[in-house]
Amino acid sequence: MLAIIGGSGLTTLSNLDVSHREVVRTPFGEPSGALVFGRICDQPAVFLPRHGYGHTIAPHMVNYRANLWALHQHGVSGIISVASVGGIRADLGPGVLVVPDQIIDYTWGRPSTFFEGPGKPVTHVDFTEPYDGALRARILEAARQLSIDIKENAVYAATQGPRLETAAEINRLARDGADIVGMTGMPEAVLARELNIPYAAISLVANHAAGRGSSLHGIQFASLETVLQESMGRVRAIIETVVGCPQACQPLGLSV
Ligand code: HPA
Repeated sequence: MLAIIGGSGLTTLSNLDVSHREVVRTPFGEPSGALVFGRICDQPAVFLPRHGYGHTIAPHMVNYRANLWALHQHGVSGIISVASVGGIRADLGPGVLVVPDQIIDYTWGRPSTFFEGPGKPVTHVDFTEPYDGALRARILEAARQLSIDIKENAVYAATQGPRLETAAEINRLARDGADIVGMTGMPEAVLARELNIPYAAISLVANHAAGRGSSLHGIQFASLETVLQESMGRVRAIIETVVGCPQACQPLGLSV
């Protein structure tokens, strides 16, 4: 069963035929909300809104460990993370979909490992490739079948938020090699890795990053909403194809 963690613009999954909801408690506290179980095209799936159902949990306040642990407890076979981002690279403007392949982590103070505390062995997970290659391939293949444009190979910069970046900070991220910027990619990705859950992301560019393109003099929040609303249909279609149509993935030799 695949899990979908939804971000801004995806607080419900309208194509999920809901069977039940479950409030899960974990040793790390409470997840962002009840897990919503159901079927997409008759395939089981579970949905969790990262910022809570009322969109009240800021990126630095999300209990990433509880979210990941709750999904792990239910034995999910993979996680597709959906999140809006700012576009740094010139070709990544509002409305563009991206499947990032690398991460630079600028967040701080977020509990970011399960391997700490009394009696827990020190553990260093390999994170050379932060996203799961097979799950990324499934997303890209689904988009190709649907004739939806999607960019592969982008470096995701995870910033602390909740404020947006300064123009100088975005210039620095660009010099570091970042292509997109968001606030929730970490520690979500590494916690999935620690639990051995395949994890990949669909990033939706909501705005040009600060100081770039249409955000040269500031980020226009009104147009951000519009972009999210216009684009989530494409994201939902991709998810539907990845989760619900296993035959779509057979050429890649993958199982749902
Ligand atoms: N910066 C950080 N996170 C974001 C942005 C941004 O410009 N847009 C959407 N999420």
